[in-house]
Amino acid sequence: MTACSSADEARVGREASPWWQSLNGNWQLKLWSSPDAVPNTAIKRDLASTAGWLTVAVPGNWTVQETGDFPHYTNVQMPWPLRPPETPSENTTGVYRRTFTVPKNWKSRRTIIHIGAAESVHAVFVNGSFVGYGTDSRLPSEYDITDYLQAGKNTLAIFVPRYSAQSYVEDQDQWWMAGLHREVFLESRAQVHIAQLHAHADWDADLGLATMNISAFIGVADQDSQSPLDRGWTTRSWVETIDGKRLGKVHVAKVPYRHIQPYAFSGHIATTTFDIPKAQPWSAETPQRYRLLCELVNSDGEVSEVVGQVVGFRRVEIQDGLVSVNGRAITIMGVNRHDHHPDKGKAVSVEDMRQDIITMKRANINAVRTSHYPNDHRFYDLCDEYGLYVIDEANIESHGFNTSLCHDPRYAATWLSRVARMVERDRNHPSIIMWSLGNESGYGEHHDACAAHIRRVDPSRLLHYEGAVFHAGWSDGGKNVTDVVCPMYAPASALDLYVTAKLGERPLILCEYSHAMGNSNGGLADYWKVIDQHRLLQGGFVWEWKDHGLRQTLKNGQERFAYGGQFGDHPNDGNFVADGLVSPDCEPHPAIQELMWVHRPIAVEQTGWKLRVTNRQSFRNSAWLRGTWELTLDGEIVESGNWSPQVEAGQSALIDAPTNLLEAKKLNGEVLLTLRWFAKKATPWCTAGCLVCWDQVVVRAATPQRLPKRASDEDRAEIDVLLGGNPRLNLWRAATDNDGFKLMPDLASQMGIGGRALWNWLATGINTKPANSLVNHQCDSYVDVDGAVVFDHTVVVPESLADLPRIGVVFELPAGFDELSWYGRGPLENMPDRNSGALLGIWSDEPDELPYIVPQEFGLRTDCRWMEIIRSRDGVRLRIEALNPAGLHMSAVHHRDDDLFAAADVTELTWREALTVHIDVAHRGVGTASCGPDIDPRHSIAAGSYRFAYRLRLLGASDN
Ligand code: GAL
Repeated sequence: MTACSSADEARVGREASPWWQSLNGNWQLKLWSSPDAVPNTAIKRDLASTAGWLTVAVPGNWTVQETGDFPHYTNVQMPWPLRPPETPSENTTGVYRRTFTVPKNWKSRRTIIHIGAAESVHAVFVNGSFVGYGTDSRLPSEYDITDYLQAGKNTLAIFVPRYSAQSYVEDQDQWWMAGLHREVFLESRAQVHIAQLHAHADWDADLGLATMNISAFIGVADQDSQSPLDRGWTTRSWVETIDGKRLGKVHVAKVPYRHIQPYAFSGHIATTTFDIPKAQPWSAETPQRYRLLCELVNSDGEVSEVVGQVVGFRRVEIQDGLVSVNGRAITIMGVNRHDHHPDKGKAVSVEDMRQDIITMKRANINAVRTSHYPNDHRFYDLCDEYGLYVIDEANIESHGFNTSLCHDPRYAATWLSRVARMVERDRNHPSIIMWSLGNESGYGEHHDACAAHIRRVDPSRLLHYEGAVFHAGWSDGGKNVTDVVCPMYAPASALDLYVTAKLGERPLILCEYSHAMGNSNGGLADYWKVIDQHRLLQGGFVWEWKDHGLRQTLKNGQERFAYGGQFGDHPNDGNFVADGLVSPDCEPHPAIQELMWVHRPIAVEQTGWKLRVTNRQSFRNSAWLRGTWELTLDGEIVESGNWSPQVEAGQSALIDAPTNLLEAKKLNGEVLLTLRWFAKKATPWCTAGCLVCWDQVVVRAATPQRLPKRASDEDRAEIDVLLGGNPRLNLWRAATDNDGFKLMPDLASQMGIGGRALWNWLATGINTKPANSLVNHQCDSYVDVDGAVVFDHTVVVPESLADLPRIGVVFELPAGFDELSWYGRGPLENMPDRNSGALLGIWSDEPDELPYIVPQEFGLRTDCRWMEIIRSRDGVRLRIEALNPAGLHMSAVHHRDDDLFAAADVTELTWREALTVHIDVAHRGVGTASCGPDIDPRHSIAAGSYRFAYRLRLLGASDN
């Protein structure tokens, strides 16, 4: 919160203030092997000698700036085998240096330096003198440096050891980085100034009334702290629209001035409460913001300074047993997010954060847990602006010493200060609805102390702490410290049981679920089926938003997104750091399609010959969306139109379908009604007309086709030559991260996490032995009357091989086939347990390229009625038609399964001109076993007999 000299400046922000100066930019940096190795000269005022000093960017982690000191990835384990609070003897320590000049008009005021955040801890020296130190790597520290300044050029040195005793409470599952990763700036403060502003913007839903409660903490920066504050200081506050139109009056509050007044003096705090006429409430769906302006006026009636604060009126509470905003229960459709950038590490810019948020909003995500620390402060501004509910989490994770440090008195103050300082920094943001006491740090008296503190200083929000329910149980566990039952990775069945067996009364919100590592997020629709059924289940946060890969260029010029171990970091937890819904550079992985669907604001399902339209939002009616419908017969549109039924938030309505479904069902073939909803108007996160959600109603299901009649075999050669023989039986898939950690075989046994399927497959030799030697396989193939080659397979899977990766065939198509068109689920990759939101339709695209950091199975399209693989050069197509069952799962990519399985990253992966084509009758789901439940049994491949038939035809450009 930077003071400005006028309301106009405060409306623009700190850049307009005469009392703010950024120190971001290029700094000098030199590294030593440990804090003790740093010579005194390094922090001295003389910067003349620059030998050995590098130039680095601030904000920035030095670990990603060619300094020779690299990132290190561990999950639970600490990077060294010591006991708290010991630190390793090798502990790279940097000194950052630069000069600065304080503007002349700052004289007679106080000069403050703000260090946004430094990993791990930091100490500040100005002109060679020690000023102070800070120990929370994810919150700012501010120092009054006035007394250390000299006229003209000043020297600043910041000493930053990479690890510290604090690292034991910063043992989050992420890269260990180092350096000044957030902004550094100077601020000038008047002797009497607004030190802190608590702006509580409340909304009474019953009265439709906005109320502003302000406490302005007036700081008096006299040196000996003895001078009294003059009588007659006041604050003048008002609320206006973001465009600057004032709502209501200006409110004056007196600043209590006499500090020697035992019992009567409760601080130089000017408080005032007033109602705002005509204000609208804030919610994630309707992020209505206002600006509060607060002037500090001296005893002569002159405005001494002004601060601006964006606010949103809303009330968060447990109402009728549910987490409510403005009197209505909300549903959390959330993700966990770390600050991460593939090139800059932890130093994310506003534009990086905006990109994350826009991509989230487009996926119908409405909430973020700032796992596992307070983010860059501008992230919350963006959440206020775009509309996201936030669980703001304290920078505490003692995972390696999970159940000991939370009882260790040496760390009690650490806990409390991290929580208290987070609340103090972030409390004015409407987007924050809960405070989280940290992550995976046991449950102890430190948590009780933190919760007590928050309940006193900010009773306007709820508390969240997973460790309490993990260690003390879901029913009554840790009620002091968490208002919600917030487990991680619980299966959908456990959620159902929580409600049906009445195991607890608190609302349940999964703080982490659906681990997005590689080809993952199986079973999302199963979770949401249960969540939608029970009011006490209020959603969850997918783990996690982004893969934390770091861009790395190898000596041979190849590029990859590196994971643990690829910087020579040991011990490490490999690619467990790459478990996001989007790539490190924010490209959505295919699972976003399913997530967007399970989060859809409007849901449509068939009920008899009518449609039930449910508005799953809490506040908005459906009027911001424009609906369309399409009736298709075997994928081709036969009728379409617009359709925009109005349904109020939280309501559902049974309405007539836009076309006569009874008549449509009489059509001969597969009949589908597809309903899509588009944004009518542009929003800050989407253009007018962007697709928001969809549903599909099966009016008449596809039926298997009878096998065609045999004809003479003479046309067969063409297909045989193209395919190089019959399609081969295939039971193997390049294991996904959920099947088992191929790069970290020991992780599962050490940590008790990770899928086991891969190890069973390897033990039975599914990846090496010919499939025909493992199962009983009969295949009949012949040419039919259309000249197509029909294949009719029967595969019998013995009990010993139950839970196979897939049952199908594979063949290769020579170079040149470069486009796909299919009638099946799409448009993006979908898997049998992640395809509820994948529409059946006719789609076309080029073959997918690997979307995952570690090569694995990808590119599948489930339930394909047909697929054509096209040689664009001459229009020749290989057409694959499913006969029985009506749909088969198909893919065509430029990698063989073995190539994918053998490669640890994209630089090791062979890309072939040829296309590897799969046709599967059964394909194992993906589940989330890398951290969480494996597949539901209905998506595993049981022992038994599988029959499937399809036909292949080679067509010319002009053939139908
Ligand atoms: C949780 C943890 C996360 C992450 C996740 C697995 O236990 O809170 O930080 O490690 O598991 O990726």
